[in-house]
Amino acid sequence: MAEPIIIDTDPGQDDAVAILLALSVPDRLDLQCITTVAGNVPVGLTTANALRICDLAGRADVAVHRGAEGPLVYPLETAEFVCGPDGLAGADLPLSRREPAPGHAALAIIAALRSAPGSGLILCPLGPLTNIALAIRLAPDIVPKIRHIVLMGGAIALGNITPAAEFNVYVDPHAAAIVFGCGAPIVMMGLGVTHQAVATLDDVQAIAALGSASARAIYGMLTRPRPGGLGTAGHPMHDPCVIAWLLWPELFTGRSCHVEIETAAGPLRGRTTIDWNNRLQRAPNAFVIDTVDAAALFRRMTVALARLP
Ligand code: RIB
Ligand code: CA
Repeated sequence: MAEPIIIDTDPGQDDAVAILLALSVPDRLDLQCITTVAGNVPVGLTTANALRICDLAGRADVAVHRGAEGPLVYPLETAEFVCGPDGLAGADLPLSRREPAPGHAALAIIAALRSAPGSGLILCPLGPLTNIALAIRLAPDIVPKIRHIVLMGGAIALGNITPAAEFNVYVDPHAAAIVFGCGAPIVMMGLGVTHQAVATLDDVQAIAALGSASARAIYGMLTRPRPGGLGTAGHPMHDPCVIAWLLWPELFTGRSCHVEIETAAGPLRGRTTIDWNNRLQRAPNAFVIDTVDAAALFRRMTVALARLP
């Protein structure tokens, strides 16, 4: 029985690979809908990109709901310097003719959770957590229907957008604080593990050798120029780690920790303080992932992606 999931996303190249990976295994993951949020690029572009990616995978049946224009409190900060002006530099994809589905992303998340079977569904946030926080605040009754929140965000050590903070949590730390405080089971993929998921040249060549349109787009995205100072020479597959954990949890290790979010403005904004050694003796609120078998991850991801057009 395929696991029902929602991907909340700010495509972004790594989001695109994560969505393609999810769509390549419909027997394992039942993608209920995609919800978009402002992050890597403004929400108009993240929404257009989500539609382009679904077209690439031949999945125009997947509803895409447009979401938050920006964070709950702070002004929006985007990352075109990394992902290019339209957010998908290197993919070379045509714009979709399809329109987003009616209804705000937060309302779509609420509706999907309320109508989910007893076992609920899994939320996979790949961008700033604004839509998830809005949904929780608008409809607290949905929290028991959240089977898991498996998110990309935060960092055990150095950040990427500032020394203290990872981009998704930095953009909307107030939303992250709401999500990490909601009580739903959280699996956190921070930079400590996603920076291990950098494709080698052989990995990239193996994907290119698939010869499909999806493979060509992924190859273009993975081989695009990358600015310095972000912590890795190659493009880390941050967001695909979220989907990979759902498919192959045995490739990852981690531990339950208490995670605190810094919401104040200043050099520590967006810091995820992870009490890895439980020094503060506070109840854990996340299962924090710290390692991945990257070689196996790329091998298995390539096999899965081979199923796409
Ligand atoms: O810090 C990396 C995260 O920020 C990734 O999800 C990337 O797509 C951006 O959203
Ligand atoms: Ca993302």
